Amino acid sequence: MATVLVTGGAGYIGSHTCVALMEAGWEVAVLDSLENSSAAAVDAIAEITGRQARFDIADCRDQSVVEKVMTEVSPDAVLHFAGLKSVPDSVADPLRYYRHNLESTAVLLMGMESCGVRRIVFSSSATVYGPPDELPVSETATTRPANPYGWTKLMIEQMVTDVVRSDPRWSASLLRYFNPVGAHPSGMIGEDPEGVPGNLMPYLLQVAVGRRAALPLYGTDYPTPDGTARRDYIHVMDLAEGHLAALQDLESSAGRVHTYNLGTGRAASVREVIAAMREATGHPLPYEELGRRPGDVPELWADPSKAHSELGWSATRTLADMCRDGWSWQSRNPQGYRSQSIS
Ligand code: NAD
Ligand code: WQD
Repeated sequence: MATVLVTGGAGYIGSHTCVALMEAGWEVAVLDSLENSSAAAVDAIAEITGRQARFDIADCRDQSVVEKVMTEVSPDAVLHFAGLKSVPDSVADPLRYYRHNLESTAVLLMGMESCGVRRIVFSSSATVYGPPDELPVSETATTRPANPYGWTKLMIEQMVTDVVRSDPRWSASLLRYFNPVGAHPSGMIGEDPEGVPGNLMPYLLQVAVGRRAALPLYGTDYPTPDGTARRDYIHVMDLAEGHLAALQDLESSAGRVHTYNLGTGRAASVREVIAAMREATGHPLPYEELGRRPGDVPELWADPSKAHSELGWSATRTLADMCRDGWSWQSRNPQGYRSQSIS
Protein backbone atom coordinates (compact mmCIF):
# COMPACT_ATOMS: atom_id res chain seq x y z
CA MET A 1 0.00 0.00 0.00
CA ALA A 2 1.19 3.50 -0.74
CA THR A 3 -1.51 6.14 -0.62
CA VAL A 4 -3.98 6.97 2.13
CA LEU A 5 -6.85 9.41 2.32
CA VAL A 6 -7.10 11.01 5.77
CA THR A 7 -10.46 12.54 6.65
CA GLY A 8 -10.10 15.03 9.50
CA GLY A 9 -6.37 15.19 8.76
CA ALA A 10 -6.10 18.84 9.84
CA GLY A 11 -7.42 17.98 13.31
CA TYR A 12 -5.51 17.09 16.44
CA ILE A 13 -4.98 13.34 16.05
CA GLY A 14 -5.24 13.35 12.24
CA SER A 15 -2.43 15.89 11.82
CA HIS A 16 -0.06 13.88 14.02
CA THR A 17 -0.95 10.73 12.14
CA CYS A 18 -0.26 12.47 8.82
CA VAL A 19 3.26 13.26 10.04
CA ALA A 20 3.85 9.64 11.07
CA LEU A 21 2.48 8.38 7.74
CA MET A 22 4.53 10.76 5.62
CA GLU A 23 7.68 10.04 7.58
CA ALA A 24 7.06 6.34 6.96
CA GLY A 25 6.88 7.00 3.21
CA TRP A 26 3.12 7.06 2.61
CA GLU A 27 1.49 9.43 0.13
CA VAL A 28 -1.13 11.34 2.09
CA ALA A 29 -4.23 13.23 0.96
CA VAL A 30 -6.13 15.24 3.59
CA LEU A 31 -9.86 15.87 3.36
CA ASP A 32 -11.09 18.22 6.08
CA SER A 33 -13.91 20.75 6.35
CA LEU A 34 -11.83 22.81 8.83
CA GLU A 35 -14.85 23.12 11.06
CA ASN A 36 -12.77 22.30 14.10
CA SER A 37 -9.24 22.92 12.82
CA SER A 38 -6.96 25.25 10.92
CA ALA A 39 -5.23 25.11 7.54
CA ALA A 40 -2.12 26.16 9.47
CA ALA A 41 -1.92 22.56 10.73
CA VAL A 42 -1.55 21.30 7.17
CA ASP A 43 1.22 23.86 6.54
CA ALA A 44 2.94 22.70 9.70
CA ILE A 45 2.75 19.05 8.59
CA ALA A 46 4.59 20.08 5.41
CA GLU A 47 7.19 21.96 7.41
CA ILE A 48 7.86 19.02 9.73
CA THR A 49 8.02 16.37 7.02
CA GLY A 50 9.45 18.42 4.14
CA ARG A 51 6.64 17.02 1.98
CA GLN A 52 3.36 18.44 0.80
CA ALA A 53 0.16 16.48 1.25
CA ARG A 54 -2.74 17.03 -1.12
CA PHE A 55 -5.34 19.01 0.82
CA ASP A 56 -9.05 19.35 0.01
CA ILE A 57 -11.23 21.56 2.17
CA ALA A 58 -14.37 19.47 1.93
CA ASP A 59 -17.06 17.81 4.00
CA CYS A 60 -17.38 14.02 4.15
CA ARG A 61 -21.13 14.44 3.89
CA ASP A 62 -20.78 15.75 0.34
CA GLN A 63 -20.76 12.56 -1.71
CA SER A 64 -19.87 14.16 -5.05
CA VAL A 65 -16.79 15.83 -3.56
CA VAL A 66 -15.82 12.64 -1.70
CA GLU A 67 -16.05 10.65 -4.94
CA LYS A 68 -14.13 13.26 -6.90
CA VAL A 69 -11.30 13.28 -4.37
CA MET A 70 -11.35 9.50 -4.07
CA THR A 71 -11.16 9.11 -7.85
CA GLU A 72 -8.29 11.56 -8.21
CA VAL A 73 -6.31 10.25 -5.23
CA SER A 74 -7.09 6.57 -5.75
CA PRO A 75 -6.09 5.69 -2.18
CA ASP A 76 -5.31 2.19 -0.96
CA ALA A 77 -7.12 2.92 2.30
CA VAL A 78 -8.93 5.61 4.26
CA LEU A 79 -8.21 6.77 7.79
CA HIS A 80 -11.45 8.27 9.06
CA PHE A 81 -10.89 10.86 11.82
CA ALA A 82 -13.52 13.39 10.71
CA GLY A 83 -16.38 13.91 13.10
CA LEU A 84 -17.69 15.84 16.07
CA LYS A 85 -16.20 14.83 19.42
CA SER A 86 -17.53 16.86 22.34
CA VAL A 87 -19.36 14.80 24.97
CA PRO A 88 -21.25 17.78 26.51
CA ASP A 89 -22.21 19.18 23.09
CA SER A 90 -23.59 15.76 22.15
CA VAL A 91 -25.72 15.70 25.30
CA ALA A 92 -27.02 19.21 24.59
CA ASP A 93 -27.66 18.62 20.87
CA PRO A 94 -27.87 14.86 20.26
CA LEU A 95 -29.51 15.04 16.82
CA ARG A 96 -26.73 17.21 15.48
CA TYR A 97 -24.24 14.58 16.65
CA TYR A 98 -26.16 11.59 15.31
CA ARG A 99 -26.72 13.28 11.98
CA HIS A 100 -23.21 14.60 11.53
CA ASN A 101 -21.20 11.57 12.62
CA LEU A 102 -23.42 8.88 11.08
CA GLU A 103 -24.11 10.71 7.85
CA SER A 104 -20.48 11.64 7.23
CA THR A 105 -19.42 8.03 7.72
CA ALA A 106 -22.24 6.55 5.62
CA VAL A 107 -21.52 8.95 2.75
CA LEU A 108 -17.79 8.28 3.01
CA LEU A 109 -18.35 4.50 2.91
CA MET A 110 -20.63 4.87 -0.12
CA GLY A 111 -18.01 6.96 -1.87
CA MET A 112 -15.35 4.36 -1.03
CA GLU A 113 -17.53 1.54 -2.36
CA SER A 114 -18.27 3.32 -5.60
CA CYS A 115 -14.55 3.97 -6.14
CA GLY A 116 -13.48 0.46 -5.12
CA VAL A 117 -11.60 1.59 -2.00
CA ARG A 118 -12.45 -0.98 0.67
CA ARG A 119 -10.01 -0.57 3.55
CA ILE A 120 -10.83 1.71 6.44
CA VAL A 121 -9.39 2.57 9.84
CA PHE A 122 -11.97 4.25 12.05
CA SER A 123 -11.37 6.55 15.04
CA SER A 124 -13.50 5.01 17.74
CA SER A 125 -13.22 5.74 21.44
CA ALA A 126 -12.99 4.12 24.84
CA THR A 127 -16.16 6.06 25.53
CA VAL A 128 -18.05 3.16 23.87
CA TYR A 129 -17.45 1.12 27.04
CA GLY A 130 -19.17 3.50 29.47
CA PRO A 131 -18.74 2.64 33.16
CA PRO A 132 -16.46 -0.44 33.22
CA ASP A 133 -17.38 -3.68 35.03
CA GLU A 134 -13.73 -4.56 35.47
CA LEU A 135 -10.31 -3.07 34.89
CA PRO A 136 -8.32 -3.02 32.74
CA VAL A 137 -10.88 -2.83 29.94
CA SER A 138 -10.40 -5.33 27.13
CA GLU A 139 -12.09 -5.24 23.73
CA THR A 140 -14.57 -7.92 24.83
CA ALA A 141 -15.93 -5.74 27.66
CA THR A 142 -19.59 -4.75 27.54
CA THR A 143 -20.29 -1.62 25.53
CA ARG A 144 -22.83 0.79 26.98
CA PRO A 145 -22.04 4.39 26.04
CA ALA A 146 -23.15 6.99 28.57
CA ASN A 147 -23.72 9.83 26.08
CA PRO A 148 -24.84 10.43 22.46
CA TYR A 149 -21.27 10.99 21.26
CA GLY A 150 -20.33 7.53 22.50
CA TRP A 151 -23.40 6.05 20.85
CA THR A 152 -22.42 7.58 17.51
CA LYS A 153 -19.07 5.81 17.82
CA LEU A 154 -20.68 2.47 18.63
CA MET A 155 -23.25 2.84 15.85
CA ILE A 156 -20.50 3.65 13.36
CA GLU A 157 -18.57 0.57 14.52
CA GLN A 158 -21.71 -1.43 13.70
CA MET A 159 -22.15 0.32 10.35
CA VAL A 160 -18.59 -0.48 9.32
CA THR A 161 -18.94 -4.08 10.56
CA ASP A 162 -22.10 -4.60 8.50
CA VAL A 163 -20.40 -3.24 5.39
CA VAL A 164 -17.49 -5.67 5.79
CA ARG A 165 -19.93 -8.55 6.38
CA SER A 166 -21.74 -7.64 3.17
CA ASP A 167 -18.65 -7.95 0.99
CA PRO A 168 -15.44 -9.82 1.90
CA ARG A 169 -13.35 -7.46 -0.20
CA TRP A 170 -13.74 -4.93 2.61
CA SER A 171 -11.54 -4.84 5.71
CA ALA A 172 -11.65 -2.52 8.68
CA SER A 173 -9.90 -1.63 11.88
CA LEU A 174 -11.86 0.03 14.69
CA LEU A 175 -9.45 1.80 17.02
CA ARG A 176 -10.73 2.66 20.48
CA TYR A 177 -8.54 5.48 21.77
CA PHE A 178 -8.24 6.09 25.49
CA ASN A 179 -7.08 9.64 26.43
CA PRO A 180 -4.87 11.08 23.65
CA VAL A 181 -2.63 13.92 24.88
CA GLY A 182 0.67 15.63 24.10
CA ALA A 183 1.97 16.83 20.78
CA HIS A 184 4.63 16.26 18.15
CA PRO A 185 8.01 16.87 19.81
CA SER A 186 8.74 19.71 17.35
CA GLY A 187 5.98 21.73 19.04
CA MET A 188 4.72 22.73 15.59
CA ILE A 189 1.41 20.88 15.78
CA GLY A 190 -0.76 20.14 18.79
CA GLU A 191 -4.21 20.27 20.32
CA ASP A 192 -5.97 23.59 19.85
CA PRO A 193 -9.42 23.51 21.42
CA GLU A 194 -11.96 26.19 20.65
CA GLY A 195 -13.06 28.15 23.75
CA VAL A 196 -12.65 26.78 27.28
CA PRO A 197 -10.93 23.38 27.10
CA GLY A 198 -13.13 20.53 28.28
CA ASN A 199 -10.23 18.12 28.79
CA LEU A 200 -7.61 18.02 31.51
CA MET A 201 -4.33 18.33 29.59
CA PRO A 202 -5.22 21.26 27.32
CA TYR A 203 -6.70 23.07 30.31
CA LEU A 204 -3.49 22.63 32.31
CA LEU A 205 -1.40 23.81 29.36
CA GLN A 206 -3.51 26.96 29.10
CA VAL A 207 -2.98 27.62 32.82
CA ALA A 208 0.76 27.15 32.32
CA VAL A 209 0.83 29.62 29.46
CA GLY A 210 -1.21 32.21 31.36
CA ARG A 211 -4.49 31.97 29.44
CA ARG A 212 -6.40 30.61 32.48
CA ALA A 213 -5.95 31.29 36.18
CA ALA A 214 -6.47 27.87 37.75
CA LEU A 215 -7.58 24.35 36.87
CA PRO A 216 -11.03 23.32 38.09
CA LEU A 217 -10.26 19.92 39.63
CA TYR A 218 -13.39 17.82 39.41
CA GLY A 219 -13.73 15.28 42.19
CA THR A 220 -11.41 14.61 45.12
CA ASP A 221 -13.47 11.90 46.83
CA TYR A 222 -13.12 9.06 44.34
CA PRO A 223 -12.20 5.60 45.67
CA THR A 224 -8.66 5.97 44.29
CA PRO A 225 -5.34 6.28 46.16
CA ASP A 226 -5.32 10.12 46.07
CA GLY A 227 -9.07 10.66 45.69
CA THR A 228 -8.91 11.94 42.07
CA ALA A 229 -10.03 10.10 38.94
CA ARG A 230 -7.58 7.95 36.99
CA ARG A 231 -7.27 7.65 33.20
CA ASP A 232 -5.10 6.02 30.57
CA TYR A 233 -3.35 8.98 28.92
CA ILE A 234 -1.61 8.09 25.66
CA HIS A 235 0.89 10.20 23.74
CA VAL A 236 -0.62 11.28 20.43
CA MET A 237 2.50 10.08 18.55
CA ASP A 238 2.09 6.59 20.04
CA LEU A 239 -1.50 6.75 18.85
CA ALA A 240 -0.37 7.89 15.40
CA GLU A 241 1.99 4.92 15.19
CA GLY A 242 -0.87 2.63 16.16
CA HIS A 243 -2.67 3.77 13.02
CA LEU A 244 0.30 2.82 10.87
CA ALA A 245 0.32 -0.64 12.39
CA ALA A 246 -3.44 -1.03 11.84
CA LEU A 247 -3.14 0.18 8.26
CA GLN A 248 -0.40 -2.28 7.43
CA ASP A 249 -2.41 -5.10 8.95
CA LEU A 250 -5.42 -4.35 6.72
CA GLU A 251 -3.47 -5.61 3.72
CA SER A 252 -3.88 -9.17 4.95
CA SER A 253 -7.29 -8.77 6.58
CA ALA A 254 -9.79 -9.04 3.71
CA GLY A 255 -13.27 -9.81 5.01
CA ARG A 256 -12.38 -8.99 8.61
CA VAL A 257 -13.11 -6.28 11.15
CA HIS A 258 -10.55 -5.83 13.92
CA THR A 259 -11.20 -3.90 17.12
CA TYR A 260 -8.26 -2.63 19.15
CA ASN A 261 -7.82 -0.64 22.32
CA LEU A 262 -5.11 1.98 21.91
CA GLY A 263 -3.92 2.90 25.37
CA THR A 264 -0.85 2.41 27.51
CA GLY A 265 -2.37 -0.01 30.03
CA ARG A 266 -1.42 2.40 32.84
CA ALA A 267 -3.53 4.93 34.70
CA ALA A 268 -2.61 8.34 36.10
CA SER A 269 -4.69 10.36 38.53
CA VAL A 270 -5.53 14.03 38.06
CA ARG A 271 -3.11 14.90 40.87
CA GLU A 272 -0.36 12.84 39.20
CA VAL A 273 -0.97 14.64 35.91
CA ILE A 274 -0.77 18.03 37.64
CA ALA A 275 2.53 17.01 39.27
CA ALA A 276 4.00 15.79 35.96
CA MET A 277 2.88 18.97 34.23
CA ARG A 278 4.43 21.13 36.98
CA GLU A 279 7.69 19.32 36.42
CA ALA A 280 7.52 19.82 32.63
CA THR A 281 6.48 23.48 32.67
CA GLY A 282 8.09 24.83 35.83
CA HIS A 283 4.75 26.52 36.53
CA PRO A 284 2.98 26.15 39.92
CA LEU A 285 -0.33 25.31 38.20
CA PRO A 286 -2.90 26.34 40.81
CA TYR A 287 -6.13 24.40 40.99
CA GLU A 288 -9.48 24.69 42.68
CA GLU A 289 -10.99 21.53 44.16
CA LEU A 290 -14.60 21.12 43.05
CA GLY A 291 -17.22 18.37 43.12
CA ARG A 292 -17.32 15.51 40.64
CA ARG A 293 -18.10 16.26 37.00
CA PRO A 294 -21.37 14.52 36.01
CA GLY A 295 -20.80 11.43 33.87
CA ASP A 296 -17.19 10.86 34.95
CA VAL A 297 -16.14 7.37 36.01
CA PRO A 298 -13.60 6.96 38.85
CA GLU A 299 -11.12 4.92 36.80
CA LEU A 300 -10.64 3.78 33.23
CA TRP A 301 -7.64 2.19 31.64
CA ALA A 302 -6.99 -0.15 28.77
CA ASP A 303 -5.87 -3.67 28.34
CA PRO A 304 -3.85 -2.95 25.17
CA SER A 305 -2.46 -6.50 24.85
CA LYS A 306 -4.48 -7.39 21.74
CA ALA A 307 -2.91 -4.56 19.72
CA HIS A 308 0.47 -5.70 20.96
CA SER A 309 0.04 -9.36 20.08
CA GLU A 310 -1.76 -8.87 16.74
CA LEU A 311 -0.27 -5.61 15.44
CA GLY A 312 3.07 -5.61 17.22
CA TRP A 313 2.23 -2.14 18.51
CA SER A 314 2.50 -0.78 22.01
CA ALA A 315 2.79 2.70 23.48
CA THR A 316 6.32 3.58 24.56
CA ARG A 317 6.12 7.22 25.67
CA THR A 318 5.74 8.22 29.33
CA LEU A 319 3.53 10.75 31.10
CA ALA A 320 6.61 12.99 31.37
CA ASP A 321 7.02 12.79 27.56
CA MET A 322 3.36 13.70 27.07
CA CYS A 323 3.71 16.77 29.31
CA ARG A 324 7.03 17.85 27.81
CA ASP A 325 5.77 17.65 24.23
CA GLY A 326 2.41 19.24 25.08
CA TRP A 327 4.32 22.11 26.68
CA SER A 328 6.60 22.39 23.66
CA TRP A 329 3.48 23.00 21.51
CA GLN A 330 1.69 25.33 23.93
CA SER A 331 4.72 27.45 24.83
CA ARG A 332 5.59 27.95 21.15
CA ASN A 333 1.96 28.65 20.25
CA PRO A 334 0.28 30.24 23.27
CA GLN A 335 -2.87 31.02 21.28
CA GLY A 336 -2.71 27.79 19.27
CA TYR A 337 -2.86 28.07 15.50
CA ARG A 338 -4.31 31.57 15.84
CA SER A 339 -0.91 32.86 16.96
CA GLN A 340 0.64 31.34 13.83
CA SER A 341 -1.74 33.09 11.46
CA ILE A 342 -1.27 36.45 13.23
CA SER A 343 2.53 36.35 12.99
P1 NAD B 1 -10.51 17.18 15.92
O1 NAD B 1 -11.81 17.88 16.05
O2 NAD B 1 -9.26 17.92 16.25
O3 NAD B 1 -10.37 16.57 14.46
C1 NAD B 1 -11.49 16.20 13.67
C2 NAD B 1 -11.30 16.87 12.32
O4 NAD B 1 -12.39 16.48 11.48
C3 NAD B 1 -11.31 18.39 12.40
O5 NAD B 1 -10.19 18.87 11.67
C4 NAD B 1 -12.62 18.80 11.73
O6 NAD B 1 -12.51 20.04 11.05
C5 NAD B 1 -12.85 17.64 10.80
N1 NAD B 1 -14.25 17.36 10.47
C6 NAD B 1 -15.30 17.24 11.32
N2 NAD B 1 -16.40 16.89 10.63
C7 NAD B 1 -16.05 16.78 9.34
C8 NAD B 1 -16.74 16.42 8.16
N3 NAD B 1 -18.03 16.09 8.17
N4 NAD B 1 -16.06 16.39 6.99
C9 NAD B 1 -14.74 16.70 6.96
N5 NAD B 1 -14.03 17.06 8.04
C10 NAD B 1 -14.68 17.09 9.22
O7 NAD B 1 -10.62 15.85 16.82
P2 NAD B 1 -9.48 14.82 17.23
O8 NAD B 1 -9.26 14.94 18.68
O9 NAD B 1 -8.34 14.89 16.31
O10 NAD B 1 -10.28 13.46 17.01
C11 NAD B 1 -10.21 12.75 15.79
C12 NAD B 1 -11.16 11.58 15.85
O11 NAD B 1 -10.80 10.76 16.97
C13 NAD B 1 -12.62 11.97 16.08
O12 NAD B 1 -13.43 11.10 15.30
C14 NAD B 1 -12.83 11.73 17.55
O13 NAD B 1 -14.18 11.42 17.84
C15 NAD B 1 -11.93 10.55 17.80
N6 NAD B 1 -11.47 10.47 19.20
C16 NAD B 1 -10.85 11.54 19.78
C17 NAD B 1 -10.44 11.45 21.10
C18 NAD B 1 -9.80 12.62 21.79
O14 NAD B 1 -9.75 12.61 23.03
N7 NAD B 1 -9.29 13.61 21.09
C19 NAD B 1 -10.63 10.25 21.82
C20 NAD B 1 -11.24 9.18 21.19
C21 NAD B 1 -11.66 9.30 19.86
C1 WQD C 1 -9.86 13.45 32.67
C2 WQD C 1 -10.00 13.68 34.17
C3 WQD C 1 -11.96 14.95 34.77
C4 WQD C 1 -10.94 18.73 32.98
C5 WQD C 1 -12.82 12.55 27.44
C6 WQD C 1 -14.06 12.05 26.74
C7 WQD C 1 -13.79 10.75 26.04
C8 WQD C 1 -12.58 10.83 25.13
C9 WQD C 1 -11.40 11.45 25.82
C10 WQD C 1 -13.29 11.22 22.87
C11 WQD C 1 -11.45 13.51 34.66
C12 WQD C 1 -10.69 15.70 35.14
C13 WQD C 1 -10.89 17.42 33.39
C14 WQD C 1 -10.80 19.76 33.95
C15 WQD C 1 -10.56 18.10 35.66
N1 WQD C 1 -12.83 11.63 23.99
N2 WQD C 1 -10.72 17.10 34.71
N3 WQD C 1 -10.61 19.40 35.26
O1 WQD C 1 -13.35 12.60 30.54
O2 WQD C 1 -11.57 10.80 30.57
O3 WQD C 1 -12.42 11.60 28.42
O4 WQD C 1 -11.78 12.67 26.48
O5 WQD C 1 -13.65 10.14 22.52
O6 WQD C 1 -14.93 10.43 25.35
O7 WQD C 1 -15.08 11.90 27.71
O8 WQD C 1 -10.98 13.10 29.77
O9 WQD C 1 -9.45 15.00 30.01
O10 WQD C 1 -11.93 15.43 30.11
O11 WQD C 1 -10.84 14.24 32.00
O12 WQD C 1 -10.42 17.81 36.86
O13 WQD C 1 -10.85 20.96 33.65
O14 WQD C 1 -9.65 15.05 34.45
O15 WQD C 1 -12.95 15.14 35.72
O16 WQD C 1 -11.38 12.95 35.94
P1 WQD C 1 -12.16 12.01 29.94
P2 WQD C 1 -10.79 14.52 30.41
